[in-house]
Amino acid sequence: MTRPEPPRPVAVVSGGSRGLGLALVTDFLRRGHRVATFSRTESAELAALREATEPGLLSWSALDGTDAEAVDGFVRAAVRRHRRIDVLVNNAAVGLEGLLTLTSAAAIDAALRTNLTLPVLLTRACLKPMLARRSGVVINLSSINALRGQAGVAVYGAAKAALDGLTRSLAREAGPAGVRVVSVAPGYFDSDMTAGIGEQQRRRIVRRTPLGRLGSVEDVLGVVRFLTSPAAAFITGQTIAVDGGYTC
Ligand SMILES: NC(=O)c1ccc[n+]([C@@H]2O[C@H](COP(=O)([O-])OP(=O)(O)OC[C@H]3O[C@@H](n4cnc5c(N)ncnc54)[C@H](OP(=O)(O)O)[C@@H]3O)[C@@H](O)[C@H]2O)c1
Repeated sequence: MTRPEPPRPVAVVSGGSRGLGLALVTDFLRRGHRVATFSRTESAELAALREATEPGLLSWSALDGTDAEAVDGFVRAAVRRHRRIDVLVNNAAVGLEGLLTLTSAAAIDAALRTNLTLPVLLTRACLKPMLARRSGVVINLSSINALRGQAGVAVYGAAKAALDGLTRSLAREAGPAGVRVVSVAPGYFDSDMTAGIGEQQRRRIVRRTPLGRLGSVEDVLGVVRFLTSPAAAFITGQTIAVDGGYTC
């Protein structure tokens, strides 16, 4: 008699259209997960991935994650479709560079809403089904800018540091119900967000990095794979830097 296959775990990834988010979506699918993701726009790469993926395994919604109602609706639909959420990766974010005194109130508000309000709202919505099943992992994409000061990224760094605060407090709130919460703080890696970094700044980052290179999406994927595996079953409430030693 053949045993029924165990159900595929379900991963929710915010901002799956490009960069690290798209790589996470692809990796979760490869590892046998079902994936629900959203972004404001769809990229050609995500459209091609959806086309190539078995129906029912990957869903994408066009939505702005700063809209609380839209986020709640997205999570309700994901739970209706998949019955569960095993992993949430709070990946969606926007960069904001510039001296604070030269940054408009509107730009500050927009960056804080995307980089802090969005993950808080999405976590709130995904946590309910995780608590009900007494299992789950929340991974918050933080940054080395949360751990070390750097001129020109005060608002971005503040939002990412707040996300690490969310990780710690929520780990205490959700841990007794079997849900783990972890921050991953990458150093610089190539994506649309860092496309504006000039050659000189790249060389400066590499000089300051003990392992002597910029990060890559693959470096971050490896840590997410570990954190979502049984090998990380006793890790919660921590911020793990993936930065080649930049912050050590
Ligand atoms: N790249 C780096 O060097 C670096 C370093 C440290 C930490 N990180 C962190 O790693 C994560 C991924 O970075 P990345 O470089 O891959 O970013 P990215 O290439 O700029 O991609 C950001 C993703 O978030 C989505 N997004 C942004 N605002 C959104 C909103 N309001 N609603 C819904 N989706 C939204 C974008 O899609 P739409 O624009 O279509 O909405 C896109 O899919 C971020 O949390 C970032 O802060 C990156």
